[in-house]
Amino acid sequence: MTKGEQVGPQDWQGERGARWLRDMAGFEAMLQPLGEALMARAALAPGERVVDIGCGGGWTSRTAAIQVGARGAVCGVDISALLLREAARRAAGIPNLTFVRADAAVDGIPGAPFDRMISRLGVMFFVDPAAAFARLRRLLVPGGRMDWAVWGPKEDNPWMFGARAVAARHLDLPAPDPGAPGPFTLTDRERLADLLAGAGFVDIEVVEHRHHVAVGGAADPAAAADFAAGAFFFSDAIEAADAATRAAIHEDLVAFYRDFLTADRLAVPARAWLVRARAR
Ligand SMILES: C[S@@+](CC[C@H](N)C(=O)[O-])C[C@H]1O[C@@H](n2cnc3c(N)ncnc32)[C@H](O)[C@@H]1O
Repeated sequence: MTKGEQVGPQDWQGERGARWLRDMAGFEAMLQPLGEALMARAALAPGERVVDIGCGGGWTSRTAAIQVGARGAVCGVDISALLLREAARRAAGIPNLTFVRADAAVDGIPGAPFDRMISRLGVMFFVDPAAAFARLRRLLVPGGRMDWAVWGPKEDNPWMFGARAVAARHLDLPAPDPGAPGPFTLTDRERLADLLAGAGFVDIEVVEHRHHVAVGGAADPAAAADFAAGAFFFSDAIEAADAATRAAIHEDLVAFYRDFLTADRLAVPARAWLVRARAR
C-alpha cells in the first residue's frame, strides 16, 4: 500500500532506504547540480569540523572531507544502516571522514559540537521538525553555521510533480498529508525561517536555487520515465497496477519528459532553497 509523499524515519530505515540504495546512482546524478551549489555556498574552510545530516551515500561528506583537509574532520550521520554501509564503502581510505548511524532528531552525535553543518535534502523527514531543529542547533558550537538544501514548492518541481500528475491520470494516488514528514514538507520559506528562529538559529537566509535536473541522470525521455516509475514516491502504486496501466503510464511519462529534451540532454526545471543560519 503506497504511503504517497509521506516518508518518515521508519521508512528510511526500511523500504525507502533500500530503494534509495538501489537507485543511488540515478539519484546522485540527478542531485549533482544541487550538491555543487550547496557546497559552493557552504565554502568550508581547511581545519573545520563538519557534520553532514542525512548523508545517504555520502557524496557531500566526501566532498566536505576534501575541502576541510587533513586538519579538519567530517562526520556523516544517517538513520539508514544500509545507506551508511554504502557510504563507508565509497569513503574507504579517506582518513578524516567517519560515519555514525543515528536518528539526528533525537540521538547524540559523537564529536559534537561541530563548527559547521551541511545537509543535502536530509532534514525534511522529521516527525517534529521544531524539536529536531532545536536538537540540530545544539550539534553546533555557538555561532557555528549550517548550510542546507531543501526542495522548494511542488509547482516549481515538475521533474517530480509533473510525473506524479501523469501517474494520477491513471491511478488513484493518495492525497498528501500536509502535516506528515516527507521530501516536500519545507517548501514554505517563511515557515522554514520561523521554525529555524524558534529552534535558536540566527542570521537566517533562505535563497532560491533554480536549476535543471536530468531525472535519474537520464539522457533520454524513456530512461527518465523508467526512473520516475521505479524510484519516485508513487512508484509502488505504479508497480501494483496491471500491465496495461503500467504501459500507458510509461508512454505518457515518456511524452511528458520529451518536452524537456534539449539538444544534448534532458533538463527539467527544479527549484530548491539554499538555507544558511548560525547557531545562537
Ligand atoms: C533524500 S535522501 C538524501 C541523501 C543524501 N544527503 C544525498 O543528497 O544524496 C535523505 C537522507 O536522510 C536520511 N534521514 C532521514 N531521516 C533521518 C533522521 N531522522 N536522521 C538521520 N538521517 C535521516 C535518510 O536515511 C536519507 O539517507
